[in-house]
Amino acid sequence: MVCLGNICRSPLAHGIMNHLGEKHGVELTVDSAGTGAYHEGERPDKRSIEVAKQHGIDITNQRSRQFEVSDFRDFDVIYVMDASNYKNICKLTNSDVAKAKVKFILNEVTPNGNQSVPDPYYGGEQGFKEVYDMLYKACSEIIKDLS
Ligand code: 4NP
Repeated sequence: MVCLGNICRSPLAHGIMNHLGEKHGVELTVDSAGTGAYHEGERPDKRSIEVAKQHGIDITNQRSRQFEVSDFRDFDVIYVMDASNYKNICKLTNSDVAKAKVKFILNEVTPNGNQSVPDPYYGGEQGFKEVYDMLYKACSEIIKDLS
């Protein structure tokens, strides 16, 4: 799960995906990262922590890290939150196999729509709630396909 800072959107996607894996008995290895390193080592934004907690998901143990080229090797699918993440991740490899792993997470809900999960960082709590709902729907589609 990849966004820009790895403190708002992708930690929510990471927590929701783990939660749904456990709920549906699907064994998954989930991680998240940012294309930028601005928040390296930090906990998720407190507004993401709060909205996850309201849904019974604890994301406080997550720490922000930057996406690494080795992630192309270590993961089967790389879900990005927006078009800028998509471009920045694809720039890191010349491999078509690696590029094919990069997918817009909202395409799980709207195939080929290439829609972006809006960055809630500069907004209020409502934005985080909307992001949570979008990601929950997308992750539910992912788990449906896997189970
Ligand atoms: P995220 O949100 O990419 O969903 O984690 C952001 C977090 C921090 C910044 C931008 C977006 N920032 O500019 O510091």
